[in-house]
Amino acid sequence: MLTDRIDEELLEQAPLLRVISQMAVGVDNIDLDACTTRGIPVGNTPDVLTETVADTAFGLLIAGARRFLEGIDFVRAGEWRRWEPDLLFGQDVHGSVLGIIGMGRVGLAVARRARAFGMRILYTGRRELPAAEDLGAEFVDKERVLALADHVVVSAALTPETRHVIDAAALATMKPTATLVNISRGPTVDTRALIHALRNGDIAAAALDVTDPEPLPGDHELLSLPNCLVIPHLGSSSAATRAAMAELAAENLIAGLEGVRMKAVANPEVYDG
Ligand code: DGY
Repeated sequence: MLTDRIDEELLEQAPLLRVISQMAVGVDNIDLDACTTRGIPVGNTPDVLTETVADTAFGLLIAGARRFLEGIDFVRAGEWRRWEPDLLFGQDVHGSVLGIIGMGRVGLAVARRARAFGMRILYTGRRELPAAEDLGAEFVDKERVLALADHVVVSAALTPETRHVIDAAALATMKPTATLVNISRGPTVDTRALIHALRNGDIAAAALDVTDPEPLPGDHELLSLPNCLVIPHLGSSSAATRAAMAELAAENLIAGLEGVRMKAVANPEVYDG
């Protein structure tokens, strides 16, 4: 599972280990180089979860920008007495500018949804992608994404380069009306800086599927902020998608044990030399 750390220390103590199969697409918890050096293939579960995670991103985006959490709290507190023309104004999602940090499979699926919402799409990542250009998305540098986007979705894999890709400077560059959505891994966002930005009004809201730390303790400061919505890493959590992930993880495991190429492998060098 993505919660298991597979590092040198663990591998050293498992000399008979032949195969690792992770039921997730992200493999930042696994030292891939160390596995490759030992000839251990690492399976993961790309593609089968892409659309479900993109749905989650859009759900979070709308919920954050339109202040659903505050609305729910308001109703539950018994404060809903009448319809008011200026109650809990949010920001529009449709027709706005969406910034995507990390244009992988999930980023592209988010961009497809954004197109249907009439949004202009800006993205940044390792390189310009023809598939993104086909969707009308514009490749720009991170600073421009942050400065021009009305809302920002982080969908980058966690690597040393993307750790704290949203830091204090990034948050200060964003619009004060912006919602930040994180569906990648918690450490892509600097939690302390995010708390400060949300308190200060540097951005309007955050909607997080992933957090740092994770799991987030129930008394964590982030949860005391009315403009911060947190769900417990549910990105791919639909019944059908989790079943597809489990099946692919099992297939990968069997392939690894049988010594044939896995359907989805995170360290293909182990086969390709
Ligand atoms: C993944 O597969 O990496 C996701 O985070 C699981 O929802």
